[in-house]
Amino acid sequence: MSPLIGQPIDRIDGMLKVTGSASYAADFPEARLAHAVIVTSTVASGTIASIDTRRAQALPGVLLVMTWQNAMRLPNGGHTPLAPPAGRHLTLLQDNAVRYSNEPIAVVVADTLEHASDAAQHIGVTYAATPPIADFARAKAQAHTPPGQPGRPIDSQRGDVEAGLREGAVSIDAIYTTPVQFHNPMEPHATMARWDGPALTLYDSTQGVSGARTAVAAVFGIPADNVRVISPFIGGGFGCKGSSWSHVTLCAMAAKQTGRPVRLALARPQLFGPVGSRPRTEQHFSLAARRDGTLTAIRHDTLSHTSTFEDWTEMSGLVTRMMYATPNLSTSHRVVPLNVGTPTFTRAPGETTGSFALESAMDELAWRLGMDPIALRLKNYAEVEPQDGKPWSSKALRECYATGAQRFGWSRRIATPRAMRQGQTLIGLGMAGATYPANRSEAAAIARILPDGTAMVASGTQDIGTGTYTVMTQVAADALGFAPERIHFALGDSSLPRAPGSGGSQSAASVSPAVQAAARGARDKLIALAVADPASPVHGAAPADVTVIDAWVTLRADPSRRDPAAAIIARAGGQPIEAQASTKPGAEKQQYAFHSFGAVFAEVHVDADLGTLRVARIVGVYDVGQVLNAKTARSQLMGGMVWGISTVLHEEGLLDTATGRFVNGNFADYHVPVNADIGDLDVQFVGAPDLHFNPLGVRGIGEIGITGVPAAIANAVYHATGVRVRDLPITLDKVMSPPHTMV
Ligand code: MOS
Repeated sequence: MSPLIGQPIDRIDGMLKVTGSASYAADFPEARLAHAVIVTSTVASGTIASIDTRRAQALPGVLLVMTWQNAMRLPNGGHTPLAPPAGRHLTLLQDNAVRYSNEPIAVVVADTLEHASDAAQHIGVTYAATPPIADFARAKAQAHTPPGQPGRPIDSQRGDVEAGLREGAVSIDAIYTTPVQFHNPMEPHATMARWDGPALTLYDSTQGVSGARTAVAAVFGIPADNVRVISPFIGGGFGCKGSSWSHVTLCAMAAKQTGRPVRLALARPQLFGPVGSRPRTEQHFSLAARRDGTLTAIRHDTLSHTSTFEDWTEMSGLVTRMMYATPNLSTSHRVVPLNVGTPTFTRAPGETTGSFALESAMDELAWRLGMDPIALRLKNYAEVEPQDGKPWSSKALRECYATGAQRFGWSRRIATPRAMRQGQTLIGLGMAGATYPANRSEAAAIARILPDGTAMVASGTQDIGTGTYTVMTQVAADALGFAPERIHFALGDSSLPRAPGSGGSQSAASVSPAVQAAARGARDKLIALAVADPASPVHGAAPADVTVIDAWVTLRADPSRRDPAAAIIARAGGQPIEAQASTKPGAEKQQYAFHSFGAVFAEVHVDADLGTLRVARIVGVYDVGQVLNAKTARSQLMGGMVWGISTVLHEEGLLDTATGRFVNGNFADYHVPVNADIGDLDVQFVGAPDLHFNPLGVRGIGEIGITGVPAAIANAVYHATGVRVRDLPITLDKVMSPPHTMV
């Protein structure tokens, strides 16, 4: 059998999904199920002065109206002992404070969703409101330094940045801003909670079943062993389902107080605030270079908003620290508290916003120097990780530039703004670099060969829509020597061997080594049984001389001597063969720097009179190590590109400075692209398996696809129009009456 790894096989859960038979968190039936609806605040700051639930309570079917006055008391006032982001600062109805608009203030539980929704309309609330802090421009005077994370200090320095900036013959000094964005997975967050005595079971749409178990157990002050989280299908996450937000615990509280299983799904407008966002950033970027393009210094200072009760930092400077080989560099991050829900991980958190500033500034520098933007990047190519001097585990960024330029037709670009035109249409070509770190964590898996000759392989990981079921089946199939049809892969259950959360693009890279090791362990046990069995056609062979081909233990030298797994197990007494494995990164972390890279090329069409913008096509060429499935990988990268287009042209959460409300917090007013907004997307992979990183050479692909796209498009808009827009999203008004122009 040729290896399955890398093959573009169809999603094994595709049929379940397109026929509607995949069960998501809100789909699980339960006897005596009750339905919960959250009521949220209409002011952004202050306290609840009064809350009248009598009318709602008297309506048909209503079981409970839970407010701060009657909610069960949680240990420590509901404050988790876990530091963020493992535990978030939640709203659990333990007091009457209001800290942001759209914050949960009540939960209505009824026998049907309709009864709960109706009763939620009949709660009378008065507030003692205080003026909210909602104006970023004014609040930034109160910015503070947030704590860093291990390996990711808040500030960084190398060399002498002031001297480097003075040394450069050409410099750029500019401010780039990016707006608040909301993840809006197709499936809104949903939880179903059931208590069996002290044991809590949660069906939850989460990016991390183990993390959710730990977080919820910590809030209730109960052992994690008492909590089980089940999440077989997730309709997208993008970071907002990487934390357990208030509604998860509120659902479990409602189940406890009513003595019934309770289902709680957020309504779409409730995804604008209580479950995180990409924060607004204001990035001050300075760089300088010699006439030949050699960078002499970069300074990148980022301000981003956070909430008034938890620090969340958008690490926009991370990409600047590692992308180019400048000797002098300084980065910093400060946060600006506002009366809003706490921001969170949002697809390529840091790299999406940071690469917009960095790769825009590099483009501006290329124009100043009269240099091709690819040549400028090659001039400053980081041969080693520039911050600590470690070698890259593997890096094929040169090939990304070259292959991308060729596929895109970069050579036909005329290096003058507004020089390429077809009738009314100004044509712009732009490019940018893409990158995302390769992350890997400890993970475990189990493989079991069953008496019927099939195999069950499992890990407590998640499939957030990315294809985990499919790629892990491929890995297991190769390692076992079984066809994928014979393998049932299970995930999404905290009772399975522990795996990390599906965030930071780490699931494929973390879980595939564990699945491979467990499956190989089971295969080796099967082989050992067969060669030791006098009744087997392969009896007496050395284990190294046999292999497993489509579930038959087979002598390599004479494939006619073979023995099916089911017969081997039957003769051995009929017990399943089982192996477990746990794998984790080792000393290579000290030896190498691990990053994926890419080059993104965009063609935009701008109406010369109206300023309307179209992205005609994008070419992205990526070095992500080994691709596990060429079809699901391509889909992931295309999905990232689509959000990149959306980031630069469409999405913007508009916070009203007077009321602290997101005025477009719904799908009528918050713009996301539709199919007609997306042109041709071309995804290509280059490079080699990264065998320094893990045994399969897999680096993970969930996030790199969005990076680079905003800058490539902004750079193309400049080429088309001569207008440099540094404030996202780029809308036609900014192109028509430019706030900034240069060159
Ligand atoms: Mo990703 S934003 O780390 O889920």
